Amino acid sequence: MQHKNQNLFKPSKEFSRNARIKNICEYYDLWNEAEENFEQFWKNKALEKITWFSPFSKVLNQDNAPFYKWFEGGTLNVSYQCLDRHMKTRRNKVAIMFEGEMGDFEVYTYRRLLHEVCKAANLLKKFGIEKGDRVVIYMPMIPETAIIMLACARIGAIHSVVFGGFSPEALRDRIIDAKAKLVVTADGAFRRGKPYMLKPAVDEALEKDCECVKKVLIVIRNKEQIDYIPGRDYIYNELIKNESYKCEPEIMDSEDLLFLLYTSGSTGKPKGVMHSSAGYILWAQMTMEWVFDIKDMDNYWCSADVGWITGHTYSIYGPLACGATTLIYEGTPTYPNSGRWWRMIEEYQISKFYTSPTAIRMLHADSPNEPKKYDLESLEVLGTVGEPINPNAWKWFYENVGNSKAPIVDTWWQTETGGHMITPLPGATALKPGSATLPLPGIFAQIIDEEGNIKGVGEDGLLCIVKPWPSMIRGIWGDEKRYVESYFSQAKQNGKAVYFSGDGAFYDENGYITITGRTDDVVNVAGHRIGTAEIESAIAKHSSVAESAVVGVEDSIKGETLFAFVVLNRDSSCDLGSSVETLKELNDILRVEIGPIAKIEKILYTPGLPKTRSGKIMRRILRTIARGEEIKQDISTLEDSHIVQTIANLVKAEIE
Ligand code: PRX
Repeated sequence: MQHKNQNLFKPSKEFSRNARIKNICEYYDLWNEAEENFEQFWKNKALEKITWFSPFSKVLNQDNAPFYKWFEGGTLNVSYQCLDRHMKTRRNKVAIMFEGEMGDFEVYTYRRLLHEVCKAANLLKKFGIEKGDRVVIYMPMIPETAIIMLACARIGAIHSVVFGGFSPEALRDRIIDAKAKLVVTADGAFRRGKPYMLKPAVDEALEKDCECVKKVLIVIRNKEQIDYIPGRDYIYNELIKNESYKCEPEIMDSEDLLFLLYTSGSTGKPKGVMHSSAGYILWAQMTMEWVFDIKDMDNYWCSADVGWITGHTYSIYGPLACGATTLIYEGTPTYPNSGRWWRMIEEYQISKFYTSPTAIRMLHADSPNEPKKYDLESLEVLGTVGEPINPNAWKWFYENVGNSKAPIVDTWWQTETGGHMITPLPGATALKPGSATLPLPGIFAQIIDEEGNIKGVGEDGLLCIVKPWPSMIRGIWGDEKRYVESYFSQAKQNGKAVYFSGDGAFYDENGYITITGRTDDVVNVAGHRIGTAEIESAIAKHSSVAESAVVGVEDSIKGETLFAFVVLNRDSSCDLGSSVETLKELNDILRVEIGPIAKIEKILYTPGLPKTRSGKIMRRILRTIARGEEIKQDISTLEDSHIVQTIANLVKAEIE
């Protein structure tokens, strides 16, 4: 229901009555409790939510900040938290419902899932995988992906899931950086009604510099022809039949790593974000309870691919830690038509549905009336993540999918935060389209300047988290310095470095937070983080390219797309400003180096780039020009200030 005065949408009384957090006062009570007695708050939650093998002795160790340690001395196992502990009350409950793109269907009860995870864990052990070893998972969205992840957790191996859309080069980089011992993949899967392949990409990735990988385990899914290398490649489906369904969970310390997940930063290669066991699973579970108000009768669906953090926390770990029923879907939202998702929501009686603004915008543009053809009455909570949701898309989602009654939780968080940070609570927070609203209790998110002063209403500032939280990033794999530089060097409060997210944001008059987007050289294309440095170093491989600068520009479906300013070599035969061929060639390089998600949509050939006297490219100015905005930045300190006008004229000429 819309609250007329402030243009806010109040939660429905009916929903709030049964919600865990029923109103905004309850939210503030929790928030104050966390503020007044920070450690006690987290201690209580950890004792209440986690089944510990042995109790922790210290809630938070800040001695080596910003390398924080949570729940030191405690031992647990995340697979036990997600499976074994449900055996008493939920063994016959459905844990995973799976639908393949071609319509095939599978169900795993908690008992069956536990048995499959144990079998897979035993198999991993036979492959010589031990506690602390890294296992790269390059898989489609099928139940075996969750099974392998949980099997790693069971034996204490650290998984690193690589999104199936990444190229062999990108996969290789991640394998080498993590020094993985094993790669688990599938022959392929189904997408847009056709088989697509993964195993050939693994073969190509392993062609060079991957001596660390001893074996490849292949799940047969689409049954297409693949090559086998004897002594290296093994078929999961055959071997798993011989394994025992019993496997004792490894005793893990709270701070033992659960997984690595590579994400883009503003400089250099993607970084391996490290997540711990106890803090991560605690927050995954708590946020499922608070933000989705997950209940035993729910049928829950998060549409994110497991190659991203959302797939980790909210398709697999969070729902299973809560004992919920989670749906995994293999394919695209538009196959065989744009009613696919709505049909699935109707058929599976989905009550909580979590997706991305890009998908919403795409389905809206494709077929705005399609949801009306289905019975979506089961929906109680809708969620969005990954990028800002524009009020138009929000409204369409709210009215047409949620039938103007299901609240939309616009959740702001990151790979590095492990779980939700700023979001409405469905039974408590009045919604404002386009705003992530308020930080969760225990999360001290503030919009500040570099000295830690809190910004006023409407003023843009740095979105920082000024106190540690249990599911926070523990470091960057193999690069302690980069961890400190990336997250703890831009802002301070009371003399202490605080976590800077890389995002800009502002407060409104209600204290609600609206995210304005990245302030660094990271572009958010269709909710996927892409570092402009990665793009630039890839396209530099083209023989005609002298240098380039890549920025993000607005796109009505994808949120942002890539705009490249390219300086060609003097001797290049390309025609300035008209080389479609070169654009195609650059995108071919990007597909090989990164994958199809990295695609330049617009290109401008320019004689030079705006640089500071120390040689740093001023991407901010280029962003302004690309967006057709007026240049307000001071350009007097540039090495060659005339280039700015030259580029602006070229862009103008292109537009006209
Ligand atoms: O810029 C923010 C944007 O996505 C970035 C994090 O990307 P990633 O680590 O890939 O994780 C995405 C899924 C959690 C953030 O720095 N972002 C995420 N959620 C929102 C958002 N921007 C606006 N509103 C959101 N709800």
